[in-house]
Amino acid sequence: MEIRTIKADSGQLRPKPDQSNLAFGDIFTDHMFMMDYETGKGWFDPRIVPYGDFCIDPAAMAIHYGQEIFEGLKAYRSKDDHIYLFRPEENLKRFNRSASRLCMPNVDIGFFLECMKQFIRTDKDWIPQNDGTSLYIRPAMIATEAHLGVRPSNKYLCFIILCPVGAYYKEGLDPVTIYVEDKYVRASIGGTGEAKVAGNYAASLLAAEKAKEKGFTQVLWLDAAERKYIEEVGTMNMFFVIDDEVVAAPLTGSVLPGITRDSVIQLVKDWGIKVSERSLSIDEVINAAENGSLKEAFGTGTAAVISPVGQM
Ligand code: COI
Repeated sequence: MEIRTIKADSGQLRPKPDQSNLAFGDIFTDHMFMMDYETGKGWFDPRIVPYGDFCIDPAAMAIHYGQEIFEGLKAYRSKDDHIYLFRPEENLKRFNRSASRLCMPNVDIGFFLECMKQFIRTDKDWIPQNDGTSLYIRPAMIATEAHLGVRPSNKYLCFIILCPVGAYYKEGLDPVTIYVEDKYVRASIGGTGEAKVAGNYAASLLAAEKAKEKGFTQVLWLDAAERKYIEEVGTMNMFFVIDDEVVAAPLTGSVLPGITRDSVIQLVKDWGIKVSERSLSIDEVINAAENGSLKEAFGTGTAAVISPVGQM
């Protein structure tokens, strides 16, 4: 399939941000990538077009029944002007797993990656180079068929937008504060917790707002069945260093299988440090903090990178 490109004209070009003062998620580049799908026809019309509003039917099924999935990955520009993507195939494999979980079509990973690369090359001047900055890549898919019966849509739009970013948390790389949530839950086993779907994030907002009112940056979710075992933070997977063991919550089905999480586990193993993916109760963490064996706590995520936790 050929990828069409319609370049933004001079009136559509957007002002580039000050790289020394980049936040997360407010500024978008000159173009976006789009591709459509229809049952029986498959994916068609991949295109790079000027960034702008979509037009979708008010009965589009994504709006009513939440068929939406997304990914987050980053591009970096090196001093010698090469562009690097961090493990993009892993994000695209997860994109397809999320799609399958919501009865949405899969993409061809090789082709979609090629579309992404061509799109990033089109907007490569937007990749920031200052320390701590990158180009955040947000692929997403929404159900676009106009229909109000509850069933999978027959039409989809897959798109990618790009966003030059700095640190995700207002603390930058200083330690963040985390509220251990014992009332609300993010996901349960058998649900959609391990898929990257918009609904998981919508469901987390109320607890996050309440945590913010109490002065915490993020929420640490416990398991839905017992409110006892550590799951994740929603924007990042969690790690605790207890004595000489690095512990990550296991991927039980309700936790997002983070790509940064996987990279950290592989690196720590390579360094010869003991790393366990095992159930870790909040009581074990509290005991470890009290008896001095808790040495570190940190979260990992594409947006969050590796963020130290200072207080829970
Ligand atoms: C990411 O780390 O890419 C995420 O998707 C987390 C958040 C920004 C929703």
